[in-house]
Amino acid sequence: MPGPVLDRRLLLQLGGAAGLLAACTPAAPGPAPSATAAPSWSPPAQPMAFPAGFVWGAATSAFQVEGSTTADGRGPSIWDTFAARPGTIRDGSTGDPAADHYRLWESDLDLIKDLGLPAYRFSVAWPRIQPTGSGRVNQAGVDFYRRLVDGLLTRGIHPAITLYHWDLPQPLQDAGGWAVRDTAERFGEYAAIVFDALRDVDATWLTINEPKTTAFVGYRWGSHAPGISDVDQAAAAVHHQLLGHGRAVSAFRAGGGAGGIGIALNLIPVYPVDRGADPASVRVDAVENRLFLDPVLLGTYPDDAIGREAGQLPADRDAFEALVQDGDLDAISAPLDHLAIQYYGVTGVDDAGNQVPIYPTSAATWQQVHPEGLYDLLMDLLIDYPDAPPLVITENGIPDPTPEGSTDDPERREFLRAHLQQAARAIGDGVQLTGYYAWSLLDNFEWAEGMTQRWGLVRVDFDTQERTPKASAQWYSSVVRANAVAPS
Ligand code: FCB
Repeated sequence: MPGPVLDRRLLLQLGGAAGLLAACTPAAPGPAPSATAAPSWSPPAQPMAFPAGFVWGAATSAFQVEGSTTADGRGPSIWDTFAARPGTIRDGSTGDPAADHYRLWESDLDLIKDLGLPAYRFSVAWPRIQPTGSGRVNQAGVDFYRRLVDGLLTRGIHPAITLYHWDLPQPLQDAGGWAVRDTAERFGEYAAIVFDALRDVDATWLTINEPKTTAFVGYRWGSHAPGISDVDQAAAAVHHQLLGHGRAVSAFRAGGGAGGIGIALNLIPVYPVDRGADPASVRVDAVENRLFLDPVLLGTYPDDAIGREAGQLPADRDAFEALVQDGDLDAISAPLDHLAIQYYGVTGVDDAGNQVPIYPTSAATWQQVHPEGLYDLLMDLLIDYPDAPPLVITENGIPDPTPEGSTDDPERREFLRAHLQQAARAIGDGVQLTGYYAWSLLDNFEWAEGMTQRWGLVRVDFDTQERTPKASAQWYSSVVRANAVAPS
């Protein structure tokens, strides 16, 4: 079980993994490092190289790019329902046409190839495969993803395939969604259908994208689909998504599919604003990170995540524990081939357990930008979960500063550069990181922000659907070709 966050950071400041043994002597008392102190590390003057075979790519998700939400037998998802409700999406957009990728997929794959990206991460829309979330398979939906995968393979691009990126079939929500156990079982069946259809494909499979966001933003705060504000349903959604993940891993192993499987967790380094905030920040770390990492990697839930103390998830702990049946944690902690990390930034925590800003935010106000946090996160994982499988970063990025955006995007280039430097630094200090996918390939439907936040390497004119690579895409392309990131 990890110790106080601040102490873990102190260990790291004593020299990463190399300094770990030396640092395991009693921690020296002394002033707490200030979270806002000047960076303790500067990049070397020479380019930082990545290991041979490092996998570079860019990511999207089905609902955010595909559009065509009623085409070829697709059923409704919770995001169709949510976006149709007035006031839920900043600009009233609905995810259709989004970036029209369902129709433009071939030229989008050409674009990926032209940029020289060896890998592409996308998600499968469950309601295209099973329009009602269970039972009947919609062959037209299966065929779409078969064409997409074959299109990638013909172009020599490696597929990273997410099974669930938030577009739950609406009938499953009507039956309780992730707050009920049945959804985990349905997810396992859906996963088996997709594995069966693409069994021969050597893919990087991901079961569930960011179970934390679905549980907390979708079920606790209600600002994402399904728009529920109920902390106990949020806690239940944590367990049932993780159980669904376990069921999918089991289906993958049973089917003997090619490639490897993991889960995509959004993790966030948590920094106490001062020593008085240490206890609350440890609890926030439990809620934000260990509530997901511990069950998946260790087969246990942390005992400090749920409760009434500052920083905890204030759900009914007994009710949560009653959901966990015999065998669930074994299923959830079945060995993985990779652990996918999504990193956007950090948070400060005060003594009341509130998450507070300690670094500047991007146009996405939840994103406190701190590249060194990525290094801290990767090193924390190395220390706290030494038996974890190899890591892959499956999302990292920043929105354009304005809703109109621009193809001239120096902020994104510098963001990516700084984060890649920290990734290379962590690899040098012993972290097994095998790949990196920028978020996102294309400007797209950014959930409750609609089309007003542009996260793409490639600009999309939403009137004409014209694609134009931004300056950052050209820069990223040169990093990928060199397999190294230059200091400036
Ligand atoms: C992540 C989501 C992704 C995108 C980025 C900006 O949390 O997984 O779909 O919205 O944030």
